[in-house]
Amino acid sequence: MSASAAADRGSPFGEERQPSSTARPDGDGAGDPLVQVRDLVKHFPITQGVVFQRKVGAVQAVDGVSFDVKRGETLGIVGETGCGKSTTARLVMRLLEATSGEVRFDGQDITHLKGARLKAVRRDMQMIFQDPYSSLNPRKTVGSIIGEAFAVHRLERGKEVRRRAVQTLMETVGLNPEHYNRYPHEFSGGQRQRIGVARALALKPKLLIADEPVSALDVSIQAQVLNLLRDMQRQFGLTLIFIAHDLSVVRHMCDRVAVMYLGKIVEIGPGDPLYGFPRHPYTGALLAAVPVADPSASAEGRRLLSGDVPSPANPPSACRFHTRCPKAQELCSIEEPLLEDKGTGTRAACHYPLTREEVTEMGVRSAG
Ligand SMILES: Nc1ncnc2c1ncn2[C@@H]1O[C@H](COP(=O)(O)OP(=O)(O)O)[C@@H](O)[C@H]1O
Ligand code: SF4
Ligand SMILES: [Mg+2]
Repeated sequence: MSASAAADRGSPFGEERQPSSTARPDGDGAGDPLVQVRDLVKHFPITQGVVFQRKVGAVQAVDGVSFDVKRGETLGIVGETGCGKSTTARLVMRLLEATSGEVRFDGQDITHLKGARLKAVRRDMQMIFQDPYSSLNPRKTVGSIIGEAFAVHRLERGKEVRRRAVQTLMETVGLNPEHYNRYPHEFSGGQRQRIGVARALALKPKLLIADEPVSALDVSIQAQVLNLLRDMQRQFGLTLIFIAHDLSVVRHMCDRVAVMYLGKIVEIGPGDPLYGFPRHPYTGALLAAVPVADPSASAEGRRLLSGDVPSPANPPSACRFHTRCPKAQELCSIEEPLLEDKGTGTRAACHYPLTREEVTEMGVRSAG
């Protein structure tokens, strides 16, 4: 079936896909993974010198990250600014080349893919960016922005066919299709992010990566865009990687969540255990920092995450969180903790994981 026929049917996708509810969050490794990341590393060299550039160090932006994303699943990636979330996304999308490690997509090793084969894979992965203002060309109409991918890949050919396909996409994401000839500045922030979503869906991607898609939006509009993404994910059984710096944003979006700190995943698991009984002190601190009705609990959360994030150019030894961790002991700065099953539903990289009593004391509010 052609994509335009699908468009007439009211779907931007040519075929029906499995709804996400069939993909159960049952931990890593099970199910059929669309994305497999193994020991992924990205170090950006730091150079010195004007004429002869010498390498004097490296920003360890991503440092040994492994995870799977199953088909139809939504994986959240959460952590403070600078912890390597966007770099991870760009490595998966192959917008960056890894220093080492492996990215497999749909069964294929794409880590070092080039040329036409890379272009073919890129069709199946799309990204939505944080800033809907700067990611849309202000001199192009919405119709041509959304339809650009069709033009690049020679799809939906013919002016009328392409216009209909674009207008169907606009309707799908909640935009008025009659605004086809308007320019980005004529839309609000939330509507512009809808344009970004429509553009990302045009080529029927298998994987969608949303990199802090609501961080730049007013709080009142954030929920609308989150709902749209969740609807799209469910309606089309998309596989989604959803990046945020706040655990509360991904709570209702994601089947599983990975928490990153200074280039590493420190805890990963299905939402219920991760929010209900976080084992890594960093996850606990992020959850305790979520604003809650009880002011003493949020104050505790703020206290727990005091101190600056160390530089990824010179990260602390062994457990990178040891300079800020309230539970740190001598071993933590000597021996790196492995990301391992803690028997309560998540995997965490910590020598002295949180106990139930500590989680309760921290004022972690898992209900919701
Ligand atoms: N192209 C680059 N060159 C050098 N350093 C970079 C580059 N991109 C990102 N970094 C650094 O890598 C670290 C991780 O960045 P990033 O992945 O953007 O984090 P996040 O998305 O979690 O905020 C940061 O210290 C950032 O300054
Ligand atoms: S390994 Fe030690 S420093 Fe690291 S999070 Fe666990 S208790 Fe804290
Ligand atoms: Mg980022």
